[in-house]
Amino acid sequence: MVRADAPGKIILFGEHAVVYGQPAIAAPLHAVRATAVAEPALPVSGLTVHAPDIDRTLRLEALDGGPDEPLHNALVFPIQVALRYLGLPIPDLRMTVRSTIPIASGLGSGAALATALVRALCAALGHSLTNDELNPLIFRVEQRHHGTPSGIDNTVIVYEQPVYFVSGTGPQPFTIARPFTLLVADTGHGSFTHETVGDVRRLHEAAPAQVAAIFAEIGGIARQARALIEAGEFTPLGPLMDSNHDLLRQLTVSSDTLDRLCAAARAAGAWGAKLSGGGRGGNIIALVDDERAGPVAEALRAAGAVNVIQTVVRAPEQALPCSPSR
Ligand code: PMV
Repeated sequence: MVRADAPGKIILFGEHAVVYGQPAIAAPLHAVRATAVAEPALPVSGLTVHAPDIDRTLRLEALDGGPDEPLHNALVFPIQVALRYLGLPIPDLRMTVRSTIPIASGLGSGAALATALVRALCAALGHSLTNDELNPLIFRVEQRHHGTPSGIDNTVIVYEQPVYFVSGTGPQPFTIARPFTLLVADTGHGSFTHETVGDVRRLHEAAPAQVAAIFAEIGGIARQARALIEAGEFTPLGPLMDSNHDLLRQLTVSSDTLDRLCAAARAAGAWGAKLSGGGRGGNIIALVDDERAGPVAEALRAAGAVNVIQTVVRAPEQALPCSPSR
């Protein structure tokens, strides 16, 4: 039996604008994870994927095709992609996946499930994929989920490191001078990234110059944020998060609940707060001094957050690979 896992993720700056070539910053969220286990199955029994959290079992019928529906795309498509990449037939395996990452909440659940599944599959078959090989495979799964993903989710989750990311260029090495603390607060409302990304695309088509200016402003914020994080100056990061949130509101991807949670975090002493991920639902992140983390978390719960996770963003132990890949 082999086991593999992958973390959730949060986007610190730059979501949506990253789809249009602007930089974004994201970090792994280690507190929530997807896990996959692969066990040998009886000869000629084929491959099944069991998801006990939702009490569903899916069978891999072929290396290609199958319905374009969320469960198949999440649990079967990653395995088809990996087997085709490895040039292998369908093995006799029983795979089981579990995840503590809430779905449709901007925390990278789809990319983490796919990463855990493909890693467990490869380990069971005696193939080891490098992260540079795995990342484009998970990107393909993201394309199936979202149509036009920037590639940020698969990149931060596969490398499990904070990344400064520009679509098409792969992860860029990036220093974090000192660790800093974020609270991740869940609205409890799900939202589909392909819908918010589609709405932003329609907004851009309707008013190209105005919306491109918003993307450029968000990109400028991500660049400034990188410089501050590299310098270890966190207090000015807060207002940058607030400005990024306002720009995302202008892109119509915030919601009353997201706005309310951000306001509650700021009022309780967070340095800044913004929605994280696709928006309309999902999570906000709030930047806090460690001493304020407890009261801000309390204020977020009082304002309706269904869950609050405290996480520390820190420098990776190893440098990012320099070879661009996506
Ligand atoms: O999957 P989510 O909800 O974290 O959103 C991903 C971030 C977007 O910028 C909205 C889309 C993308 O592909 O980068």
